[in-house]
Amino acid sequence: MNIPMLNLKRQYDYMKKDIDDAISKCLNHQQWIMGPEVYDFEKNCSEFLGIKHCIGCSSGTEAIVLALRAIAISQGKEFFSKDDLIITTPFTFTATGDAILRSGATPVFVDIELNSFNIAPEKIKKYLENDKKKRVCGIVVVHLYGIPCNMDEICKLASEHGVFIIEDVAQAFGGKWKEKKLGTIGNAGAFSFFPSKNLGCFGDGGMVSTSDDKIAEIVRILIKHGGKDKYNVDFLGYNARLDTIQAAVLLARMKFVDEFNNRRKSIAKRYNNFLSEIKEIKTPEIKEGSVFHQYTIRVPEEKRDTLQKFLKEKGISTMVYYPVCLHEMKLFNNRAIFENLSSAERVSRQVISLPIDPLMTEQEQDYVIANIKEFFQKNYGV
Ligand SMILES: Cc1ncc(COP(=O)(O)O)c(C=O)c1O
Repeated sequence: MNIPMLNLKRQYDYMKKDIDDAISKCLNHQQWIMGPEVYDFEKNCSEFLGIKHCIGCSSGTEAIVLALRAIAISQGKEFFSKDDLIITTPFTFTATGDAILRSGATPVFVDIELNSFNIAPEKIKKYLENDKKKRVCGIVVVHLYGIPCNMDEICKLASEHGVFIIEDVAQAFGGKWKEKKLGTIGNAGAFSFFPSKNLGCFGDGGMVSTSDDKIAEIVRILIKHGGKDKYNVDFLGYNARLDTIQAAVLLARMKFVDEFNNRRKSIAKRYNNFLSEIKEIKTPEIKEGSVFHQYTIRVPEEKRDTLQKFLKEKGISTMVYYPVCLHEMKLFNNRAIFENLSSAERVSRQVISLPIDPLMTEQEQDYVIANIKEFFQKNYGV
């Protein structure tokens, strides 16, 4: 059997009629830049998420940069400066950290919680309390693997210290913290529609969500070069619009997003039922608002790579998200602040993500489970 991490072709076949019709409409109207689908999609997202503004843009990375720049501009500066510190997690995709650098600010990496993989509120608290010069201006949280961060604690800290929150929701479209959709809790949310995401398009795409009129207005300006008038510009902006054709694909796929998120969750529960029997595996917690962008387990670090190799030989793809923490990358050398990040470092050596295609059959799931069991029984007699 051959089991990829995701089977995008199978997903396309499942929604083929909706997607083909949506693309065909674009072919007929030919409004490729800011066509009607972009505005329809933004409106749909606003309703779905329960937030006033959603602004499509060219990628999830740009969404974080746009949100940060909009906050800087709303505070009267075009970019942040190196003296402006933004707290974030070192255990994420590079884009979270490089977007902070691109906004002009300095990232401060604080450690994560071993169990949720997300930034640890008590570490944020500690840093904020020691920040006597009040250099920290914001926090970028990441709902990694679709698992919500503890937003009650983080919002409390942000309001006590007067700092903003941006949610990196790249991996968590449709996820929730209590009654609220992720991306609607901080000052702004940054979404990615990269093809493999819970809501993905057929190329790059992203979106900023916010309830703040000023931030929304500035993001709209920044995505088209930095001026209300494209030919008379105020700020250093970007060409970062969401393509009409991507918006059309997203509109069609959005009809399936709750169904697909529920399917992911059922697969995660099923994996957990069987894999939690193996004492060397630490299975993820099934939190209420999780949308399982990834199903990620922790295994003893000396066994992780051999497990991955064993599964590959059986035709099962797996991925390590992420083998290198941000503070260990050359990019962040002398550009970031951090102290002890031992949990993030440890987790980066232990994690392995299993296939979690929403349309995976039970037979395919069983094959993955059986092979993981076989690996531990055969090699370690567990
Ligand atoms: C946590 C996180 N942040 C940001 C991004 C960047 O999104 P994009 O690839 O759309 O630029 C990604 C996507 O890969 C991500 O996983």
